[in-house]
Amino acid sequence: MFDVLTLNKISNKIYAVLNDDYAVSDNATAPDAILVRSFNMAEYDIPDSLLCVGRAGAGVNNIPLPRMTDKGICVFNTPGANANAVKELVICGMLLACRDVIGGNKWANTLEGDDVPKQVEKGKSQFGGIELYGKTLGIVGFGAIGAKVAVAAEALGMKVATFDPYYTGDQVKVYENVDDLYANSDFISLNLPLLPTTRGMVNDKAIKKMKDGAVIINMARGELVDVNAVKEALDSGKLRSYVVDFPNADCLNYKGIIAIPHLGASTEEAEENCAIMAASQIKDYLENGNIVNSVNFPRITVPRTTDNRLTIIYNANTKALDGIKEALSVVEHTLNYVERDTIGYAIVDTAAGINLEDNDNLISRIADVEDIISIRIL
Ligand code: MLT
Repeated sequence: MFDVLTLNKISNKIYAVLNDDYAVSDNATAPDAILVRSFNMAEYDIPDSLLCVGRAGAGVNNIPLPRMTDKGICVFNTPGANANAVKELVICGMLLACRDVIGGNKWANTLEGDDVPKQVEKGKSQFGGIELYGKTLGIVGFGAIGAKVAVAAEALGMKVATFDPYYTGDQVKVYENVDDLYANSDFISLNLPLLPTTRGMVNDKAIKKMKDGAVIINMARGELVDVNAVKEALDSGKLRSYVVDFPNADCLNYKGIIAIPHLGASTEEAEENCAIMAASQIKDYLENGNIVNSVNFPRITVPRTTDNRLTIIYNANTKALDGIKEALSVVEHTLNYVERDTIGYAIVDTAAGINLEDNDNLISRIADVEDIISIRIL
């Protein structure tokens, strides 16, 4: 039986994946796994029992990755699972920025009397806008969301370009330098993670490089953008609008800022997709030791051919792997290992008939190897 702790409300589609072998609750004290959405785990007291975390979403800035890695805890996210929902909100954000639907709606609701249709026609000119067709969209970050935004924007008649140092494809025009994207875009959509290198990247210097009247769409993370710099640019007319799905108090009730309460992934479909993907990934890790879509562990999938499997997490910057090989030399086995930064991870399948639980000798030989972080019999 595995204990799974939920730190946020997660779609109950997880129960299609986590069967009777799993006890899922929001109060487990010694969980094997945690499922989380945006709960901030920065100060979270990590239980000794914890083996893995499944983030039902893409961003992992709410999870203390270095602490997790040091403790040998594998953290998963669900890239792409909510990309369609976020894409649709990016398109919605662009439309809201160029058509004053929000202002018009507020105004329309104040009208009264038999001649509302007449008042509508008389007053509508204050809410006129511009069109997306023919405008240029610069997408910063061309991952699962950015790529979908590009397709949808092109279907609306927009020209699309991207800046993403990790993107090697040719779906759209690629700028080598983000400043060139800023200088050539009417709309700039931020679709990249919050990292030490991206925090505050949209600051006064960046905004100066942008076209006059540009629109910034931020469905990624609030901290990517210096809100004070945006406000100054809105006041001066340099920027037309800032649409943000991660508003702080400074973003509220400000002319030109459209604040949305983190709705990017809040669709039934996205919540279900993320929940199923996160649950499937932690299940495969807990039961088989396989790792897909981890943000701190290397990727590995080894089909199960025997009931005798153990996994070993070791410090990759040491001679631990040699020690593991030596320790394993006493049994017939298959060793698969992968390394990523400091994390080394081995899946060992021993020949049929070896009962690992009873084989203290083998387990203690491995445990005696220096720089082993943990061993698990699966
Ligand atoms: C994400 O990073 O994918 C979103 O923030 C997910 C969410 O809304 O939980």
